[in-house]
Amino acid sequence: HPQLLRDAAGELRLEGHSLAELGRRFGTPLYVYSRAAMLDALAGYQRALAGLPHLICYAMKANSNLAVLQTFARAGCGFDIVSGGELERVLAAGGDPAKIVFSGVGKTAAEMRRALEAGVRCFNVESLGELERLSAVAVAAGRRAPVSLRVNPDVDAGTHPYISTGLKDNKFGIPHDEALAAYRRAAALPGLAVVGIDCHIGSQITQLEPYLDALGRLLDLVEAVEAAGIALHHVDVGGGLGITYTDETPPSPEALVRALAELMRARGHGQRELLVEPGRSLVGNAGVLLTEVQYLKPGETKNFCIVDAAMNDLVRPAMYEAWMAIEPCQLRAGAAPVWDVVGPVCESGDWLGRDRALALEPGDLLAVLSAGAYGMAMAGNYNSRPRAAELLLDGDAVHVVREREDSRALFALERLLA
Ligand code: LLP
Repeated sequence: HPQLLRDAAGELRLEGHSLAELGRRFGTPLYVYSRAAMLDALAGYQRALAGLPHLICYAMKANSNLAVLQTFARAGCGFDIVSGGELERVLAAGGDPAKIVFSGVGKTAAEMRRALEAGVRCFNVESLGELERLSAVAVAAGRRAPVSLRVNPDVDAGTHPYISTGLKDNKFGIPHDEALAAYRRAAALPGLAVVGIDCHIGSQITQLEPYLDALGRLLDLVEAVEAAGIALHHVDVGGGLGITYTDETPPSPEALVRALAELMRARGHGQRELLVEPGRSLVGNAGVLLTEVQYLKPGETKNFCIVDAAMNDLVRPAMYEAWMAIEPCQLRAGAAPVWDVVGPVCESGDWLGRDRALALEPGDLLAVLSAGAYGMAMAGNYNSRPRAAELLLDGDAVHVVREREDSRALFALERLLA
């Protein structure tokens, strides 16, 4: 958490701002992001890629707030998108469609048409069926769709099964040993222009080896495809670099990209354009979720600390049993019993942290750390809970980049019977 520190008075501060004060002023649950922390994370990728042909495509699924997208667009980034909705967001935020790569296993014909019309840089195609459909859509629109095949390199990213995507039994990508035939088919289809190759092996990856294995397998294919007379312009290694939630020690973005670039160079592909699709590593440690303690409920076997944020605001603990740090915004003296920090939603799976030693009183504010990625982006409205507000800190400035949702908005599209 580059911009987060606790001051001498025990106050937790993000980019210098007291989180307790922000929580009181704007209400909770509240997401707070540091723009400087995002740009710092990006700078690691930029330093390592400087001087090489490259494009950083922010995987916006991690945090798709318009102001966050705008921040990355202004810094020169492209975007990795996975839906028509994400495309509209990038365009609304002023992103350059010519820097968009469109991933995802289930693109509809309507999404393809819209992306072609917008002029995206490339479709990352994940199946033969999708190749055929994309060609047909492009022909009907009088265009040629730029394509890259997402290859499943069958490497183990060593991460949680739900977020591992590069193994044979995942739904993602075209199997490595079928990729050459798929490239031949793509080259023969009238609506397609082959431009690249890509993979994405998983998320929250904390080792270099799976990346180097995957890139090595990708370069084998590049050579085979080019030997078959089909030119490939770029190699896209996907995203997936992990961050520190507790004691993980992932390589830095700089170390990762330097190692990848070195392998490209060693294999004679040093001049080929390298694309990366980082999500979590750009925004994860740039944001926190603030929540207020409602009730302390000590019990015989468990103590519960009931807060006003829930699984609908931050689903990672409930969904992946993800461990996320929880810190009091203001340190308090006294005993620190062990609590399960839980939300108000009517599910036993509604927890944010288990077995946390915290000195607390009702009314205290807590910060869930590393919540800038897959936090608000995965929020929902279960139990008719309006979604949290979002702030983006930028030096002295505090920008409300999403208003707190209004309960009436949740049913505004619904109709009573006559
Ligand atoms: N590119 C593709 C094709 C992807 O599917 C993903 C993430 C990324 C890039 C970015 O990966 P990142 O750099 O953020 O790891 N909700 C889960 C993570 C799901 C990731 C899905 N794909 C979580 O909260 O841990």
